[in-house]
Amino acid sequence: MLFTCLSGLGALLLPCVTAQSTFTPARPPSLPLAVKSPYLSTWFPAGSDGGNGGYLPGQWPSFWTGQTTGWTGLIRVDGKTFTWMGAPANIEAASQVAYEYTSTRSIFTIHVDDKVSLTVTFLSPLTPDDLKRQSLTFSYVRAEVVSLDGAEHEVQLYTDISAEWVSGDVSAIAKWEYGKVDDIAYHRVYKQDQWEFGEVNDRAEWGSVYYATDAVNGTTSLSGADTHVRSAFVDNGTFEEAQDANFRAINDNWPVFAHAVELGSVGSSSTSTLFTIGLCQDSAIQFLGKDGLVVLPPLWKSYFADNLTALSFFHKDFETSSGLAYELDNKIADDSRAAAGEDYLILTTLAARQAFGAVQLVGTTDTPYVFLKEISSNGNTQTIDVIYPASPIFFYLNSEFVKLLLDPHFENQEAGHYPNKWAMHDLGAHYPNATGHTDGADEAMPIEECGNNIIMVLAYAQRSGNTDYLHQHYPILKQWAEYLVEDSLYPAEQLSTDDFAGHLANQTNLALKGMIGLEAMSRIATLVGESGDAQNFTDIAHKYIDQWMELGNNFSADPPHSILNYGNASTHGLLYNLYNDKLVSTNLVPASIYTQQSLYYPTVKETYGVPLDTRNRFWTKADWEVFCAAVASEETRDLFIGDLARWVGETTESRPFTDLYMTDDGRHPVDPWVDFKARPVVGGMFALLALQ
Ligand SMILES: *[C@@H]1O[C@H](CO)[C@@H](O)[C@H](O)[C@H]1NC(C)=O
Ligand SMILES: *[C@@H]1O[C@H](CO)[C@@H](O)[C@H](O)[C@H]1NC(C)=O
Ligand SMILES: *[C@@H]1O[C@H](CO)[C@@H](O)[C@H](O)[C@H]1NC(C)=O
Ligand SMILES: *[C@@H]1O[C@H](CO)[C@@H](O)[C@H](O)[C@H]1NC(C)=O
Ligand SMILES: *[C@@H]1O[C@H](CO)[C@@H](O)[C@H](O)[C@H]1NC(C)=O
Ligand SMILES: *[C@@H]1O[C@H](CO)[C@@H](O)[C@H](O)[C@H]1NC(C)=O
Ligand SMILES: *[C@@H]1O[C@H](CO)[C@@H](O)[C@H](O)[C@H]1NC(C)=O
Ligand SMILES: *[C@@H]1O[C@H](CO)[C@@H](O)[C@H](O)[C@H]1NC(C)=O
Repeated sequence: MLFTCLSGLGALLLPCVTAQSTFTPARPPSLPLAVKSPYLSTWFPAGSDGGNGGYLPGQWPSFWTGQTTGWTGLIRVDGKTFTWMGAPANIEAASQVAYEYTSTRSIFTIHVDDKVSLTVTFLSPLTPDDLKRQSLTFSYVRAEVVSLDGAEHEVQLYTDISAEWVSGDVSAIAKWEYGKVDDIAYHRVYKQDQWEFGEVNDRAEWGSVYYATDAVNGTTSLSGADTHVRSAFVDNGTFEEAQDANFRAINDNWPVFAHAVELGSVGSSSTSTLFTIGLCQDSAIQFLGKDGLVVLPPLWKSYFADNLTALSFFHKDFETSSGLAYELDNKIADDSRAAAGEDYLILTTLAARQAFGAVQLVGTTDTPYVFLKEISSNGNTQTIDVIYPASPIFFYLNSEFVKLLLDPHFENQEAGHYPNKWAMHDLGAHYPNATGHTDGADEAMPIEECGNNIIMVLAYAQRSGNTDYLHQHYPILKQWAEYLVEDSLYPAEQLSTDDFAGHLANQTNLALKGMIGLEAMSRIATLVGESGDAQNFTDIAHKYIDQWMELGNNFSADPPHSILNYGNASTHGLLYNLYNDKLVSTNLVPASIYTQQSLYYPTVKETYGVPLDTRNRFWTKADWEVFCAAVASEETRDLFIGDLARWVGETTESRPFTDLYMTDDGRHPVDPWVDFKARPVVGGMFALLALQ
């Protein structure tokens, strides 16, 4: 919808709003801009609680934490300058008229002075079948300009980044250099005191940030104080000075790194400019594996000789990369629509970049790994009960990612670096350190992680046909299954993945994970030819599930439902572990339970969904809602998905897609305060598609 300024009396009644933007398919809490890895994760807060509604001109982009990553866009049309991104002082904002997101893109349409239209596309490519491309921690911005009124206009385009991109501490000293390679002009910015594997406020304190564009005639580049560099552009539309050589603190006269592009006369045929932004690090992860503690490089170093070769490949790969991105966007959109309609597409397309943006390809082409950061909840490395809820997107797009995520866990635990008989929770207390838990003092979630590992391994083998993997890891998988035999009928007091809810004994949903895990282990045993084990584990699983029927459900309630924990008959909760029975086709649980839950959930739903369980009246988990939806009746599935999609568009949150929110007011929990955001578990939005 477009509003023009009202003159006269109207202006007294209504503020002068030049334009309002459309948002398609929804206006998410935060709009992904450059979201490609745990350390390249810049967003645009949109919700009213901290954001400006989603208007690119007029507010600074920020890292997923909310810390500003200064990123500016200006455009000069017939000598007058407007802002198209960020909030630089004293420069009028252009008018955003549309925003659209796909799985890989955020696309803004901005009108400048009613003279030209500017389309800015942020593309963070996802290439799950192409590890070389996926390994690159770069992202594109493409700006396309065309006349709006048919007349020709003189246009210059400007963009800069601030040194805020290189550290979480704005008093840190930044250094920089400007150069050209393969007809590409680039700024390199980095922290003077490189701190390998160090973080401040979740930001990487090592590596180099690059901001590049084509080195064509008329393009000039300049570093210097923000106000100085921007006013040079405002005055002249181009730079004539030398680069700033005074290395200093990020917040000391805020050095920025700019490119100004002369577009000349722009009429009815459009002209476009491409920018690349990214982060290069020589080392990515410290890992305690079979050879002891090793440093793992980012995987792109196996494909490219150095930073500049990688940068050049990425920048010149735009046509191919963009084509692949369109294919992926269309696949996800078409499959989502076919699975559950337009509302479902709102969820999957918003989740895709965020899920991949929490992982990083590392190692070498001989031994690649995928490492994952448990973003925001605690920063753990390679948390199994975060990999598990995220896994549907990987099962749907390329199940090898699940193997590459589990490999480091197998390697560490099979080398004897973990003393407990159950499976480890995570590989390190803080990313990027995967130094394990040789003392066994990780956050224990024994049934959760044993079950998750066995179920994910079977799901992977079923999709990939890789039964060697089962042979290779059979002993430890069996060890974990033996733990499930011990503990999953009457689970001892322990945490489930929903650790914010605390410890509890006899959790119905957790017991179900253990039992399906045992049936999955029986299938694994069959696949490796261990028929005695196969028979034993399936016998136990069936014996347990028969008892679980009575222990874990209240059949005399109206309507009947599963309960949170045994003997606590008036409780209820999302029975999301039922999903596993379909994911690995174990068919352990009677069909009556699926029907029962489908009929029950609508009776306890609130405004924005079904609460997680009775320990908190309103809070819920978006990932678990979609797990439930995936195995529910069509009607109940659509109820879950419809409420969640509506929440995405209506919540006042401005944090990247949270998975924990209140079903009454749509906000994150305030008492107790739990502030999940940007977590990879939104890969669980793909739960329906992982079953197909
Ligand atoms: C990782 O370990 C290194 C020491 O090897 C330490 O300096 C760094 O602070 C750790 N990183 C994080 C994020 O805890
Ligand atoms: C590439 O990045 C590494 C790590 O930041 C740095 O040591 C190296 O000097 C960079 N090389 C170039 C050419 O920028
Ligand atoms: C750039 O400008 C130079 C000097 O004006 C000219 O020789 C060259 O051909 C131009 N290159 C292109 C690609 O237009
Ligand atoms: C603008 O360009 C003129 C010459 O064309 C130059 O003298 C002046 O310094 C430039 N102004 C800025 C702010 O760069
Ligand atoms: C079945 O498995 C349990 C648990 O691992 C074990 O104690 C028992 O001996 C097994 N029985 C047979 C017949 O293999
Ligand atoms: C678990 O449930 C069983 C059966 O109701 C009960 O006997 C047992 O005491 C419970 N365990 C705990 C730790 O509460
Ligand atoms: C089942 O739930 C109903 C309603 O909450 C309750 O009255 C009843 O006591 C429960 N059944 C059992 C066996 O506890
Ligand atoms: C029953 O569940 C509630 C949460 O809904 C919990 O606070 C309480 O401790 C449970 N009671 C028992 C006996 O397990």
